Amino acid sequence: MTSQIRSERGGWNPDWEIDGNCVPAARYTDPAYADAEQANLWPRAWQVACRTEQLLEKGSYVEYEIGDQSILVVRVDRDTIKAFFNSCRHRGTTLATGSGCFERGMMSCPFHGWTYRLDGRCALVTYADELSEEQRDPERLRLVECQAEVWANFVFVNMDPEAAPLEEAIGPGTRWADIAAIDRMSVVWHRRTVFPANWKNALAAFQEAYHAETAHPQFQTEIGYGDPGSFGYFPDEKGCAHAGLLPDAVFGEEPADQAAAFYRFVSYSHGLGDSGQYSDVDVALAKKVSERPVPKGSSIYAEYLKELYAHAAEHRIPLPTPTPEEAAHIGSTFLFPNLVVTPIIGGAVAMLFRPGSDGVESCSMDWWSLRILPEDEKAPEYAICDVDYHDMEAVGEILWQDFATVPRSQKGMRARGFEQLSLNPIQEVAILNMHHELDCYLKR
Ligand code: FES
Ligand SMILES: [Fe+2]
Repeated sequence: MTSQIRSERGGWNPDWEIDGNCVPAARYTDPAYADAEQANLWPRAWQVACRTEQLLEKGSYVEYEIGDQSILVVRVDRDTIKAFFNSCRHRGTTLATGSGCFERGMMSCPFHGWTYRLDGRCALVTYADELSEEQRDPERLRLVECQAEVWANFVFVNMDPEAAPLEEAIGPGTRWADIAAIDRMSVVWHRRTVFPANWKNALAAFQEAYHAETAHPQFQTEIGYGDPGSFGYFPDEKGCAHAGLLPDAVFGEEPADQAAAFYRFVSYSHGLGDSGQYSDVDVALAKKVSERPVPKGSSIYAEYLKELYAHAAEHRIPLPTPTPEEAAHIGSTFLFPNLVVTPIIGGAVAMLFRPGSDGVESCSMDWWSLRILPEDEKAPEYAICDVDYHDMEAVGEILWQDFATVPRSQKGMRARGFEQLSLNPIQEVAILNMHHELDCYLKR
């Protein structure tokens, strides 16, 4: 990556070693471990910076912040999105904050007026003739670029110019989300909250369903992420975890039980923030099918899909048509280091976790409701809504329950008597594997 001489920080400490199924609590509480992530994880990993919907016009930009780094993601032209370190080549001033559109396609520094084209070339150095020839070298004046690539309308960036392409990094792990046609989905809303837990601790609530029975009792036990063992890494796909929902298998034996359980599941999933995953229409369809007998040889989920596709045909919603076997794999996908996508047929919730201001025991979470819209319907205007994680109405009941337990876990991890997390190697294997993956970045 772009090198910069810094004082020695971010080195590896042998006390952080994984021991079987146990992970040192220091990985969640020690500022030195967060320093190691800042030095060796975030500068080298592909990570989501924004959505393409935020960059529709030429010159539009989004500032992406991770730790002490600020990156500008910029729409250069119809086919090109670039990312640059948000740092003027003169004395480092950040060129823009938040989001917006660069007027006349120029990025102008607010300090001494040096100005850059959207592709990063320097267009103007004020009093250039007073600088040495070497200082005026166009290559030296060019903004320093990060890699930028798009998957499913998420713009990923990587600060490391040597990093392998995005496809290699997230690779086949995206295939179940791709089957759900996640790239056809539009943003219905984007919410953001700040939360008192290490980013990995917040993320972990979405890497396992082990907690669902206790922390989300409304689902009742027959609903889970299917085979809990499936929430693991594919053996040869580093950085990806996946859980199929296996809808038919988890809704109980008796048709009447199935119907009630299915409706409960859909309506509570809808509670992942209003229309987060299942929409109002999905809930109404689930209600309709749960109130009539399931024909012999069919299942509640098959009946629901019939209604869903009939509704889609009527409203020209281009739903994907996976085979039943493929549909059973649509569930949840984790892309290392910090994105979780949970598609269903027709929609998804995606969640992104980043270290917060102290880098250790606070994090920010962004989450999106995504939906395949009718062909003639325009997506709502893009806006990020900041919400308070205590606000059940704003975050939805399920997240509210997660937000109630995760900070308690964070607090307890600081206990002097608590040295390591003892993970369930079946149901929490994704968390364990994530730590092994982190080691690949941090042990240097
Ligand atoms: S710091 Fe940008 S022009 Fe001086
Ligand atoms: Fe949860």
